[in-house]
Amino acid sequence: TNDDLDVCFNLVQDVARKAGEMIREAFKQEKQVSTKSSLADLVTESDKKVEQLIISTVKDKFPTHSFIGEESVGDSCVLTDNATWIIDPIDGTTNFVHRFPYIAVSIALLVQKKTVIGLIYNPILDQMYTARPGQGAYCNGEKLQVTQTQDLGHALVCAEFGSSRDSKVLDSKFRSMRKIIEQAHGIRSLGTATMAMCMVASGKADAYFEMGPHIWDFAAGDLLVREAGGTVVDTTGGPMDLMSRRVLCAGTQELANQIAASLEQLDLQRDDCA
Ligand code: IPD
Repeated sequence: TNDDLDVCFNLVQDVARKAGEMIREAFKQEKQVSTKSSLADLVTESDKKVEQLIISTVKDKFPTHSFIGEESVGDSCVLTDNATWIIDPIDGTTNFVHRFPYIAVSIALLVQKKTVIGLIYNPILDQMYTARPGQGAYCNGEKLQVTQTQDLGHALVCAEFGSSRDSKVLDSKFRSMRKIIEQAHGIRSLGTATMAMCMVASGKADAYFEMGPHIWDFAAGDLLVREAGGTVVDTTGGPMDLMSRRVLCAGTQELANQIAASLEQLDLQRDDCA
């Protein structure tokens, strides 16, 4: 019910701020870093602790809810109709390790596979981005609006290199990046998918695309960009699929279409392994 969603909305902001305190503390200190799928896919003790904090806090209040968390998901994630919290405890772990201040806690709540709450919190810059369907997108209480840029020739585009170091993947990404940079004002790479989506929602960048991130990297950002008036699609330009590991968002459909037409598609293992 809507009352339950109000409770969830308050809870998610509280828990994100608590997580933020943990992250701010750890940010200044030396970190124990391990690698996951590649030498550039990093995880720290903080990623795991923050995820546990978020899951245990929500579970206390809502014991029947489901969770998909970056550090606890395993190899395949299953999204059911049950209320499901999708959590990236620290998006931008590499930034966190290097003290580059673009990092965020990202939390989305899905009910019947539809996103009903999206929250992205950067604890270093103290920016809290939130969105609920039909209610707009906000940063620290200020309403967000995407840009109206339709032409790639006038666009600033965020894009990420991702963590794969496979040479075929890198070659393909560089070919796509080259095609975009030839036509655009510029490309920016922040090291975090969630903050890139916040830039699009805030009208500070015109678009963002990436092939390779996971559902926890863009579930909250997807709602945020749409509620700020933007469009979120697959990198082919087709409908957005949260499990496909491909995301393209822009202030306008025209710009999204132009970018999609310039991208070389990558074959990726879906998050649900379907
Ligand atoms: C990563 C960041 C990065 C993006 C990767 C993500 P993580 O998330 O968002 O910018 O290029 O695709 O996996 O691992 O720092 O949570």
